[in-house]
Amino acid sequence: FFAAVERQDMKDIRLLVTAGATREAVDPVRFFTNRSSGKMGYAIAEAAAKRGAKVTLVSGKTDLTPPAGVEFVEVTSAEDMYQAVISRYDDMDIVVKAAAVADYRPKVVHSQKMKKKSGDLVLELTRTRDILADLGKRKTHQFLVGFAAETENVEENARGKLERKNADMIVANNVTQSGAGFGVDTNIVTIYTRDGKSEALPQMRKTEIADCLLDKVLEARGGQKR
Ligand code: CTP
Ligand code: CA
Repeated sequence: FFAAVERQDMKDIRLLVTAGATREAVDPVRFFTNRSSGKMGYAIAEAAAKRGAKVTLVSGKTDLTPPAGVEFVEVTSAEDMYQAVISRYDDMDIVVKAAAVADYRPKVVHSQKMKKKSGDLVLELTRTRDILADLGKRKTHQFLVGFAAETENVEENARGKLERKNADMIVANNVTQSGAGFGVDTNIVTIYTRDGKSEALPQMRKTEIADCLLDKVLEARGGQKR
């Protein structure tokens, strides 16, 4: 019985979360992607919805089932995700960018399947837009949470992203640690905030990290002059 009784401490808060990997087309049969499974972002969407938030989940293609009671928007490329997020931004109170967005896409998308030739192939890639950085520039009232997937210098890189992207919080994980990062059900994260503080969470299930993260967001948001 008690398990069914959820805290409703996010009642009527509008939260948008992005999840999963983007896909950048090369030609009609090929794309570039990355190892993100979407589990972290889906866990955040589910936890927030259970706590009473109005949740929009903007997701790349994953193997996961969207949680009940959330608005689900499926996207393919980084540019699709950019459009889906920006068009909803004004209406949001909290945005959590858990997606692993491609940094580059093929400069030319071939309309026909590329045929193999003898010798090497060189593909030219061009930068995608940084969605989180753009949200940071356009921020009016929103609380902005980014993720940082790192393989080295976690703190320095995470703090750099917090500043450069004008985020309010960065959730950093070292994706080379076992029990953390892509594909697995657990994660080991450190949460960095604008006040210069950080909190290292122990290894936990992504579902538990989601609730801890939302606790931190509510706390930090409450402490901010809005
Ligand atoms: N991000 C984004 N748009 C991009 C790239 C990243 O919104 N085109 C967001 C991610 O969703 C994440 C944060 O920025 O919340 C950090 O992503 P990450 O890949 O760790 O950092 P980058 O700034 O892309 O830098 P790098 O990959 O070089 O470490
Ligand atoms: Ca990146």
